[in-house]
Amino acid sequence: MSRLGHTLLLAALLASPAAAQNLDSLLARMTLEEKLGQLNLLSADGRASPQQMQLVRAGKLGGLFNVIGAENTTPVQRIAVTESRLKIPLLFGLDVIHGFRTIFPIPLAEAGTFDPEVAEATARAAGVEAAVAGINWTYAPMVDIARDPRWGRIAEGSGEDPYLGSLMAAARVRGFQQTIFATAKHFAGYGAAEGGRDYNETEISARTMREIYLPPFKAAVDAGVASIMSAFNDIAGVPASGNAWLTDTVLRREWGFTGFVVSDWTSVMELLQHGVAGSQAEAGRRALTAGVDMDMQSGIYTDALAALVRSNRIPMAVVDTAVMRVLRAKLYLGLFRDPYRSRTAPAGPELRALARRAARESIVLLKNDRALLPLDPKTATIAVIGPLADNKEEPLGPWHTQGQAQDVVTVLQGIRSRASGVQVVYAQGAGVEDTSTAGFAAAVAAAKRANVAVLVLGERGDMSGEAASRSSLGLPGVQQQLLEAVAATGTPLVLVLMNGRPLILEWASDHVPAIVETWFLGVEAGNAIADVLFGDVNPSGRLPVTFPRVLGQVPLYYNHRNTGRPYEANNKFTSKYVDVPNTPRYPFGFGLSYTTFAYSDLKVSPARARVSDTVTATVTVANTGKREGTEVVQLYVRDEVASVSPRVRELKAFQRVTLKPGESRAVSLRVAVRDLWFIGLDMKPVVEPGTFRVYVGPNSSEGLEAGFECIP
Ligand code: NOJ
Repeated sequence: MSRLGHTLLLAALLASPAAAQNLDSLLARMTLEEKLGQLNLLSADGRASPQQMQLVRAGKLGGLFNVIGAENTTPVQRIAVTESRLKIPLLFGLDVIHGFRTIFPIPLAEAGTFDPEVAEATARAAGVEAAVAGINWTYAPMVDIARDPRWGRIAEGSGEDPYLGSLMAAARVRGFQQTIFATAKHFAGYGAAEGGRDYNETEISARTMREIYLPPFKAAVDAGVASIMSAFNDIAGVPASGNAWLTDTVLRREWGFTGFVVSDWTSVMELLQHGVAGSQAEAGRRALTAGVDMDMQSGIYTDALAALVRSNRIPMAVVDTAVMRVLRAKLYLGLFRDPYRSRTAPAGPELRALARRAARESIVLLKNDRALLPLDPKTATIAVIGPLADNKEEPLGPWHTQGQAQDVVTVLQGIRSRASGVQVVYAQGAGVEDTSTAGFAAAVAAAKRANVAVLVLGERGDMSGEAASRSSLGLPGVQQQLLEAVAATGTPLVLVLMNGRPLILEWASDHVPAIVETWFLGVEAGNAIADVLFGDVNPSGRLPVTFPRVLGQVPLYYNHRNTGRPYEANNKFTSKYVDVPNTPRYPFGFGLSYTTFAYSDLKVSPARARVSDTVTATVTVANTGKREGTEVVQLYVRDEVASVSPRVRELKAFQRVTLKPGESRAVSLRVAVRDLWFIGLDMKPVVEPGTFRVYVGPNSSEGLEAGFECIP
């Protein structure tokens, strides 16, 4: 990757004041049609169509997406920079979400590493691979907070927590923007779709918007993200792609964002369906004046806005501002100097090694009774069973651009190559969504012959991601029956899960001794899973999202408010269900290890701190087991009394700590008191004096407790 070491920041610095002045003179030379053309973005089908090439020649396109491969981007870029009147280069966009050709774990899985460095590294690698293929702009990271596992796009983000989500957002922006431009999406509140149904309306209070949904976008902006994508959804009736409060007041005036905003796919046109515009021209006017600079796929800015500008219903200054934002992005990207951005290919083995590392760190051990795991590599016979056990397609997950099934190592392959002396018997049992149990007999027979059974169950890759909401969160098809049939053999059972969202795992959690959550891990899935199953790697992933017990608890998230009637076991008139506990099956931050860790001596200092101070929590963490392991030490804060009901816990710091058996270490976690803000009664961020409780432990529902006083 050395030749690609220069960052876009450097490129931006190289874009001299003279170049910026050139942009002013370029703008002065543009016709209205050419200006609107810069704001027009269309999708291709692998390569630009003849009509699209004609639009480029006529200066009526600012960018294309889904043109893949330098052999396809180069000719159309050549038209832009040699045949169009003003020779303005094109942006080439693509959804490079968790890898381009080398597919890494889905973003939700990777969030579970609690390791922003890994997220930065995979984003950087994906950006390099995409750049080699002519791409200069990705529609990632997706930074939507999601509290509802029915929503399939939970797979694309970092889960439910704004602090973890912010660190991951910034890391991915930094990673991608080593070579290509990033886009933080979907601005904003898309993850709050009612009922978890994709594209649905949202009701988000201004307070929750600012405390929960906006922070990862702010983090992306602070990390220098080049573009923001406006979302499909409305917020309390105001669509995000025509919402001046979001894309102007908050994004530009409050946060000082200087990049450009691109709409989501036809989300400008959809203002008609939302019922906030009666014509295409009105939809375009509303979006553009709200601050949506580039129109993805509606064609409305080029087709319907010129007349409005000519009749002064849209001021020319609004168009000019949007055009300059797009041109400036092209300048900073270096496109005026080097429109083709030719790159050498990155080395393959490095990327596979990174994919394996990211996959290993993403795996979450949910249960491990009587230390069934790790498996002994000298086990005589292992049965590997299930629809996902030898499946090369699904570990690629929902967005895999150029990812190829042939590149994927399956669990069966991973186990076979790790445990070469072991007899491995395989049975598929059933397909992911099969209704037939015809394959069960072979699966049961395989389990009976074996000393241990590894059952690989879950979802198809495309059951999460866009337009993939589910109304039930159990194992699809007959997989639950398959699980029960294999469990009934009495052979010790390890359940390996592949899925893009939290699943309901009640039966499995009660009856299966070992459960390993692997999400969708990408091309190195099978090797990484074998690394963990045989103990070559001690699992260290943690859940970036709560796993409910039953669907009826949804939405269920750890950073909720206390209510006026918090749960009491013996009091009916407290906030609870009559038929299920309030607690999740697996809380946010949860994950086991093959060793055990003990926490002691939590101290927070200073005991009294001002808003401008930083407090330090120090805790001793000991590895009390027999293997080296990595603990994710998590710090949560609770504001005891405030003018707005505080959340019961909020993650404010974490640290990955690797300890040898018997080793113990004092771990220090620092929190700036000013980061303990909430949105006050006047709707402004405030830190109020008073007591803060501090919890440090292994997840969001355990830990030692201390505190400090915030003084005025
Ligand atoms: C629609 C999706 O919502 C968005 O995430 C994606 O970037 C665009 N399509 C472009 O493919």
